Amino acid sequence: MAGIYIHIPFCRKRCTYCDFYTQIAPKLVPSFVDAALKEIEYRKDYLGNEIINTIYFGGGTPSIITQSDFERFFKTISSFHTISTDAEITFEANPDDLSIEYLEGIRKLPFNRISIGIQSFIDRDLKKVNRRHTGQQAIQAVQNAKSAGFENISIDLIYGLPNQTIDEWKSNLLQAFELDVQHISIYGLTYEEGTKLWVERKQGISPNLDDETMNEMYLITIDEMSKHGYDRYEISNFCKNGLQSKHNSSYWKGEKYLGIGPSAHSYDEKSRQWNISNTEEYVKAVQKMDKFFEVEVLTTDNMYNDYVMVSLRTANGANLNKIQNEFGPKYASHFLKSIENHIKNGLVIEENDIYTLSINGIMVSNSVLVDAMMA
Ligand SMILES: C[S@@+](CC[C@H](N)C(=O)[O-])C[C@H]1O[C@@H](n2cnc3c(N)ncnc32)[C@H](O)[C@@H]1O
Ligand code: SF4
Repeated sequence: MAGIYIHIPFCRKRCTYCDFYTQIAPKLVPSFVDAALKEIEYRKDYLGNEIINTIYFGGGTPSIITQSDFERFFKTISSFHTISTDAEITFEANPDDLSIEYLEGIRKLPFNRISIGIQSFIDRDLKKVNRRHTGQQAIQAVQNAKSAGFENISIDLIYGLPNQTIDEWKSNLLQAFELDVQHISIYGLTYEEGTKLWVERKQGISPNLDDETMNEMYLITIDEMSKHGYDRYEISNFCKNGLQSKHNSSYWKGEKYLGIGPSAHSYDEKSRQWNISNTEEYVKAVQKMDKFFEVEVLTTDNMYNDYVMVSLRTANGANLNKIQNEFGPKYASHFLKSIENHIKNGLVIEENDIYTLSINGIMVSNSVLVDAMMA
């Protein structure tokens, strides 16, 4: 089983917190689509004969792409790959693109999951970070997705936006529960170096919330999620009725994936590779069949580090037997030694050789993960 990720590097407007590779350049969309389709063809053998279990259009803003361009993507992917009959096929969308007409068109394509970036239902929050939509438009977008027949809807929310209060965050959660979606991703705001938000913090315009408030917001989140029937299957991800994101879960399980488009990453169990983060150069290089990516062959240290970093964030945890069998005794003993104290301090829980972060461990997850990694 393997996945395909397609990066759509365009936005209509830039949110101040975002450092994903994306730009406002509508003129480049047609040449980008042609190049991405060519890349799918050139790299048709990257995944071997693996059956495709997930396809994910992420961004940027995939909802910028027209129905007919999506049709071209699906035609090209299915001419080079076998797609499983129960594949999860997701597209990421911004609320203000999701009119009922657009969604009904999209529903005619193989998509069976939609991930809507909402961030907040509070207009002041949205304005502050330069989002294009209002809280009401976000609610309408989810309702439109339901009316168009989507039965697997995910939404993204960010807690800790500048000046957000604990009560405001609670009201965002309650609004999300009212929408009764299948999946919710919750991210604590990060100030990424070089973003407008990062500059605004330096200027004292957009102060960050203190750690105590951020932790309290996260604790409220896990409590409310469980009261409303959502399981936490990863630090930032919650779902109902077992509807985890198959695409993200496949990354966490270490399955192969092919990343198409500028800045997209790929992994084939032996190496990682990443495309250049420049759409114009990407298009030129693909047209000329020049190299448009870098490759890193993975060492055992890299593979072990990827495994502990990712697995400890999930509710399934890190498996000591897997570490022993796949990476060897040196790694198993390093792992045990590095988390011994964290177990004593109640940050890591062990049960039948499976290690997971406790709630207190999640609050300081970065330091636990760094300790478990091989230097
Ligand atoms: C690839 S982004 C794009 C989704 C879509 N373009 C949108 O904005 O609605 C995926 C998600 O990452 C989260 N995100 C991006 N930058 C973040 C930051 N600096 N801090 C916290 N969450 C962030 C947001 O929740 C966002 O919806
Ligand atoms: S959060 Fe989404 S819409 Fe905003 S700049 Fe990033 S990718 Fe574009």
